[in-house]
Amino acid sequence: MDYVKFSRDGEIVTITIDNEKALNALNAQALREIIEAAGMVDANTDRCVVITGAGKKSFVAGADIKEMKDITTEEGRELAILGNACMRAVETIPVPTIAAVNGYALGGGGELACACDIRVGGENAVFGQPEMGIGITPLFGGTQRLPRVIGVGKAKEIIYSGLRIKADEAMRIGLLNAVYPIDELMERAYEMAKRIAANSPIGVREAKASINEGMQVGIEDAMQIEIGHAAVCFGTDDQHAAMNAFVEKRKLDKFMNR
Ligand code: CAA
Repeated sequence: MDYVKFSRDGEIVTITIDNEKALNALNAQALREIIEAAGMVDANTDRCVVITGAGKKSFVAGADIKEMKDITTEEGRELAILGNACMRAVETIPVPTIAAVNGYALGGGGELACACDIRVGGENAVFGQPEMGIGITPLFGGTQRLPRVIGVGKAKEIIYSGLRIKADEAMRIGLLNAVYPIDELMERAYEMAKRIAANSPIGVREAKASINEGMQVGIEDAMQIEIGHAAVCFGTDDQHAAMNAFVEKRKLDKFMNR
């Protein structure tokens, strides 16, 4: 892959958008490579994925404006289809994903961050949907996921006005879960990833699926979704081992993922 790096350290995967000279802007090939990288995550052995951008200035500065500036309506539709497929591939990675937002998260960058489960940022994180200023609308899921993450009213303000949101404000409105000095960002993201990785992989996976599926439907259907995912956890070796360890007042060494 030319624009995306995939690496694995034990149970933690890192996906890095690596096009630093263009502030990690996403061209069509990068979108395809992110889909490929998302597909490489193995639910049997990987426990958490950290997604970040190369360098210390930018997470992702949006879709590649140079590549899309002369495209037609039909090509714009194809780009929106590809971008949406890419963000959906990230969203449906079966294990938790943490966006480590190391600077600009504009346009497609904010959309990529919102396709992740959790967002942590460097103090230099800047969110924004600048599409209105360049004659387009968000096309990688921004009109759909940003309102789901921070609420409809604030999302509309950000999208309509092109407002830039700095790290502290992003934290205040729930767009970032935490903010760290940029030099600590990756270390802190991996700490969070390891805390997640130490928990029951089946429980974490089923919880992610339950939350994501339940958010798309009404409460009655959402309850059925939760019941289905909860039931799957019972009768597993990990559930027995962990509950027996609790009752016998001992520490469980490790979950087996079965
Ligand atoms: N597409 C293509 N190239 C980009 C880019 C983008 N989105 N963002 C930055 N670059 C390139 C610049 O053109 C520049 O390249 P050259 O060295 O060849 O000139 C290089 O990255 C460095 O950028 P700047 O010189 O502009 O850096 P800066 O520090 O002065 O400014 C910035 C940084 C504020 C992020 C500025 O680059 C910028 O405004 N970028 C565009 C942000 C944007 O509008 N993103 C939304 C795109 S539309 C979208 O994403 C729609 C969607 O829903 C998917």
